[in-house]
Amino acid sequence: MSKPIRLLVVCLGNICRSPMAEGALRARIAEAGLSERITVDSVGTGGWHVGDPPDPRAIATAARHGVDISGLRARQLAGADYSAFDLLLCADRANLRDVHARMPGTCDARAALMLEWAGEGGTAEIPDPYTGGEAEFDHAWALVDAAAAAIVQRLSGKRQGGLTA
Ligand code: 4NP
Repeated sequence: MSKPIRLLVVCLGNICRSPMAEGALRARIAEAGLSERITVDSVGTGGWHVGDPPDPRAIATAARHGVDISGLRARQLAGADYSAFDLLLCADRANLRDVHARMPGTCDARAALMLEWAGEGGTAEIPDPYTGGEAEFDHAWALVDAAAAAIVQRLSGKRQGGLTA
């Protein structure tokens, strides 16, 4: 069997958007029976929340959709992530800029906006719900979950693109 595809979701704090995206991806991957083929982790470009669980509002939002992310702990993007992962999926353009700025000269990992890579059309960025309320968290969940479903389809070869396009 070929090596698994290793996905890393990146946002700013790793307590709101990227843990929700990690949870949504894990659920969609499990549903497709691809847990051996696609692995997922998440990080923040910033280090303020390292070691913290996801924001309680992110935990509650995921739980409303049947996904438990309470066991996740925040960590910060590290140099080793560029060799430990194949594709870095960023929540917004600032995250993507930071990921590119820290990228080693030689590196096989690719980075993209999560929503763009999913080919969902419409919005390219996942707005940060941190200073918002339940509606903003619900909106972020809807975006990451639709993207997660599309990404799993793409990686399972059910849609054009695969990992290379
Ligand atoms: P996230 O949201 O990037 O979606 O995890 C944020 C969480 C915390 C902070 C910023 C954004 N913060 O500045 O502490």
